[in-house]
Amino acid sequence: MDATAEARIEAYLDEQAGLDTLRFITCGSVDDGKSTLIGRMLYEAQQIFDDQLAELKRSSKKQGTQGDEIDFALLVDGLAAEREQGITIDVAYRFFATDKRKFIVADTPGHEQYTRNMVTGASTADVAVILIDARQGVLTQTRRHSFIASLLGIRHVVLAVNKMDLVGYNQSVFDGIVDAYAAMAKGLSFATVTPIPLSALKGDNVIQRSARMKWYSGPTLLGYLGSVDVRRASAAAPFRFPVQWVNRPNLDFRGFSGSVAQGQVAVGEEVRVLPSGELATVKSILLGERTLPVAVADQAVTLTLDREVDVSRGDVLVASRSPCETTDQFEAKIVWMDREQGYAGRTYWLKSGAATVNATLSEVKHRYNVNTFEQSPARALDLNDIAVAKLALDRPIAFEPFAQSRPMGSFVLIDKQTNQTVAAGMIDFALRRASNVHRQAVSVNRLSRASLNGHRGKVLWFTGLSGSGKSTIANALELKLHNEGYRTYILDGDNVRLGLNKDLGFSDADRVENIRRIAEVAKLMADAGLIVMTAFISPFRAERQMARELFEPGEFIEVYVSTPLEVAESRDPKGLYKKARRGELPNFTGIGSRYEEPLDPELTYDTAELPIERIVDDIREKIRFYDQDFSI
Ligand code: ADX
Repeated sequence: MDATAEARIEAYLDEQAGLDTLRFITCGSVDDGKSTLIGRMLYEAQQIFDDQLAELKRSSKKQGTQGDEIDFALLVDGLAAEREQGITIDVAYRFFATDKRKFIVADTPGHEQYTRNMVTGASTADVAVILIDARQGVLTQTRRHSFIASLLGIRHVVLAVNKMDLVGYNQSVFDGIVDAYAAMAKGLSFATVTPIPLSALKGDNVIQRSARMKWYSGPTLLGYLGSVDVRRASAAAPFRFPVQWVNRPNLDFRGFSGSVAQGQVAVGEEVRVLPSGELATVKSILLGERTLPVAVADQAVTLTLDREVDVSRGDVLVASRSPCETTDQFEAKIVWMDREQGYAGRTYWLKSGAATVNATLSEVKHRYNVNTFEQSPARALDLNDIAVAKLALDRPIAFEPFAQSRPMGSFVLIDKQTNQTVAAGMIDFALRRASNVHRQAVSVNRLSRASLNGHRGKVLWFTGLSGSGKSTIANALELKLHNEGYRTYILDGDNVRLGLNKDLGFSDADRVENIRRIAEVAKLMADAGLIVMTAFISPFRAERQMARELFEPGEFIEVYVSTPLEVAESRDPKGLYKKARRGELPNFTGIGSRYEEPLDPELTYDTAELPIERIVDDIREKIRFYDQDFSI
């Protein structure tokens, strides 16, 4: 390599290092020419690269493949084959650069079942390139892509009207599509929509201005992408710093590490710790070994403060004069990304910034038909559903509405059993109602009730198939305890479903809500000092876990009645198994609906192996109702 070539490469790399990066997503299907368009962009950008390295190129390589014959789609599909295996979310990120900018393009499959992929690709994109086949115009999928792009906070859209060569480069075809799109996108929240007529195949208006569409005077696609101003208000936005960990190597040093989510902070500036609201001043900013005067967005730094304040992981340091809100209840848009349905009433981990909290999906208000934007009521969420829902957290977090701040307004939900990310969410607003509800202090407490009763409250949570013997055991146990002078109560599936829960059926969503209510009622009864026995199938681990978490250790005893299906079915006390086998009860537990066996119950009994009296005696013996520690 000669010296000038080397110098040019150096100069090129320097220049590239100084360029900003635009992230965009392409939305469309193979039929729209998406692969061809991406291939064309990569190829043409490469040519710019080639220009810059012309001497080197000329001496080292002879290019024989250039020309109209290249199948750009093949180029992209070839890259697709290199996609990392084993990732569940199928988004391919490609990198390229021009002399104006570096680009990261998220390429996601376009079919309806891939909503979650598009969500993943769109969540960090500044621009969406929405592809339309000029022969087809605005289609259902165009609406879907636009809806999701808008939902994910993308502010700039390129309406790339492709295949203009196949409509004779006709202006009125283009104008018609632009008008139809404008009418459709009215309700969406884009700041700009830039329509560009192009032919990815022929190269018209991708980077070269087309001589065949003189009537078009706007930018070319790469011209637009190279110059669009996407600087969010972010540099000017107020400082937000989610604390990822508290760094305390020794008693003399206490730093707070994380990435600046938004805005900037300088040494000497005052910050507020949220949710607590405490104030402190930034004493130093550390980046590795170095100290900095200022930390800016995206920098991973450690901050030290001038005084001892209580800060823990998940707290957010914010500009003291522009704090954000804190809440433990909010309404949000949710994209469901898991095959397992999401249910109103179920509790998940919610991760937002560095905070992880317990969150109950308290209500699904409605879900959207992403093709028509219509809303319909829902109790459960299916894969790819987009819904408006309410969430209740077990402690407040600092947040901003997603429309104001992407980093402070977004979250994911994680299944507590599988640890899978099941949903992505965008916070709309806090629900204030909760903040005015405070636990009322009462003078007679659990202990005073316990001493009057002579025993404490407790819950024996029976779970097992229908016909396994839950109610029979609970009934015999209650009789025994009652005769011994204990205060008891049985909550039984069939009985509660005739009253409190008569609005609920046997869909998964209804069973989740059934158990949620029962757990809360059992909690009140145990608080009141009763020994509560619940006899519900309670088929799902998540809700049994939720019930358990309402109680102190030792206060909640899970009793698994493990009688096998064949035995329960042969008993069939209500004839329901027969009905289910005939197909008349489509979601009967054990046949058409699943039962998730307890993994770690306190007690397990099979009524096919042990007579009821023995089981009752055993429970009676193992559970101590007077002990301080309540252990069994
Ligand atoms: S749970 O699944 O939500 O916990 P629950 O214990 O309240 O169920 O109610 C179960 C009882 O309802 C059964 O014992 C049976 O008598 C009756 N039942 C009616 N339809 C069904 C069904 N599809 N699946 C299970 N139980 C049913």
